[in-house]
Amino acid sequence: MATVSLKGIQKVYPHSEPQKKKKKQKKEDQPVEEKKYKLKVTDEGVVAVDNFNLDIADKEFIVFVGPSGCGKSTTLRMVAGLEEITRGDLYIDGVRMNDVAPKDRDIAMVFQNYALYPHMTVRQNLEFPLKLRKVPKEEMDRRVNEAAEILGIIQFLDRKPKALSGGQRQRVAIGRAIVREPKVLLMDEPLSNLDAKLRNQMRAEIIKLRHRINTTFIYVTHDQTEAMTLGDRIVIMKDGEVQQIGTPQEVFDKPINTFVAGFIGMPRMNMFGGDLIKKDGKYYVQVMDACIELSPEKQKNLADRNTESRPVAVGCRPEHISLDYAEGKMIEGVVEVSEMMGSSVHLHLNSLGRDCIIIVPTLDLKDNSALQQGANVKFTFAPNAIHVFDPETGMNLEYL
Ligand SMILES: Nc1ncnc2c1ncn2[C@@H]1O[C@H](COP(=O)(O)OP(=O)(O)O)[C@@H](O)[C@H]1O
Ligand SMILES: [Mg+2]
Repeated sequence: MATVSLKGIQKVYPHSEPQKKKKKQKKEDQPVEEKKYKLKVTDEGVVAVDNFNLDIADKEFIVFVGPSGCGKSTTLRMVAGLEEITRGDLYIDGVRMNDVAPKDRDIAMVFQNYALYPHMTVRQNLEFPLKLRKVPKEEMDRRVNEAAEILGIIQFLDRKPKALSGGQRQRVAIGRAIVREPKVLLMDEPLSNLDAKLRNQMRAEIIKLRHRINTTFIYVTHDQTEAMTLGDRIVIMKDGEVQQIGTPQEVFDKPINTFVAGFIGMPRMNMFGGDLIKKDGKYYVQVMDACIELSPEKQKNLADRNTESRPVAVGCRPEHISLDYAEGKMIEGVVEVSEMMGSSVHLHLNSLGRDCIIIVPTLDLKDNSALQQGANVKFTFAPNAIHVFDPETGMNLEYL
C-alpha cells in the first residue's frame, strides 16, 4: 500500500565554480552550440524541476516522459531521497518524506546500467538487500525464489552477471529491487541499454510483473511508446516543468499544447498554418482552400471559451488524414517518399512547404498512382481529430 504525493516540488542545482569554468572553456575551444533546452536560471542556480504537483494512487503505474535533460531523473531521485528537495513536500502514504533517509523510505530503484555486483552470483545479488535488512534465511529464500520465478531467472541463480545477456542482467536488477517488496518501485530508463527487440519483450514483461506484485510504480523514460504502453497515467515534462498529466488516451486525444502533441504519437502530429473560422455560430478550420467543419465536441469546447475567428496552427495526426478522391477544395501535397508498411502506406508529402505524413491503410487505396514519388495528392482531415493551437503560445484552444 502506498500513495505518493509531490506538492510543489522544486529542484535547484546551485551554481558551482567548476561547472562555470568548464562551460567557459568549452566556449573558447568549440563553436557555440545552440542550446536545445531552456531551463530557468536564477541567482540560486539552475532550476532543473519546478512546481511539480502529482498525486499517485496506490498501485498506480506512473510514467515520467520527456526529452533528455527535462528533469525526469532529478524528480525520481528526489522521490528516492538520493537528491535533496529544494522546495515543496513529498509524501508517501501521507507521511512527509523530505527529511527521511533513502533506506527508510521503503522504496527500491532500478537503474539503466543494472548496477549489479559483478563478483556475486545472481542469487547473492538478490539476497544482498535482504541480508542488509537481516531478513531471516527462510523468508529470504522464499522471496528470492519467488522473484526469480516471476522474472524467469531461476536457471541463472548460480551464474555471475558477466555470464548473462543484457536482458537477463536487467531482470536480475529488477529482481533485486522486488525482493525487498518495496512500497514504491522506481525505474529510471531500465530498458534503454537493450536492443529494440529485447526492449519490446521486456516491456511486456514489465506489464506482467506489474500485475504480479502489489507495488506503486514510477517509471522514467524518454520513449513515448514505453510511456503509452506502460503508464496508467503519463506525466509529460519539458524544461523542468510538467506539461500535461493524463491517461495515454487523454494525452493522445487531447494534447494541451503543441509540445505534447508532437511528443506523443508516432509518426508525430502534422502541423499546418491555417485559420479558425466562426460563422453562424459554427467553427471551421481552413487550410489552403479546404474548409472543414469541426466535430460537435470540438464546437462545444471552443464555444464554451467564446473563441473568435483567428489564425491558428492546425494539428492533425498521420492516421487522421485521408486521401480524398472527390473533386473540390482540398488540401494538396506532393509525394516525396512512400513507405509500404504492409497493412498501410506512410506517405511523406510536401504541403505548403512543410513536411507532412499521411498513413493510408492499404485497403483504402483506390489506385496506386498516389504512391508514386512526385504524385499530386489531395487530402482532408477527420473533423473529430483536428487540433487548433495558438501559433504563438502553442496552447490548444479547446482546453485553454
Ligand atoms: N548534479 C547536477 N548539477 C547540476 N545540474 C544537474 C545535475 N544533475 C542534473 N543536472 C541538470 O538538471 C537537468 C535535468 O537533468 P535530469 O533530471 O538528469 O534530466 P533527464 O533525466 O530528464 O534527462 C539537466 O539540465 C541537467 O544538466
Ligand atoms: Mg535521466
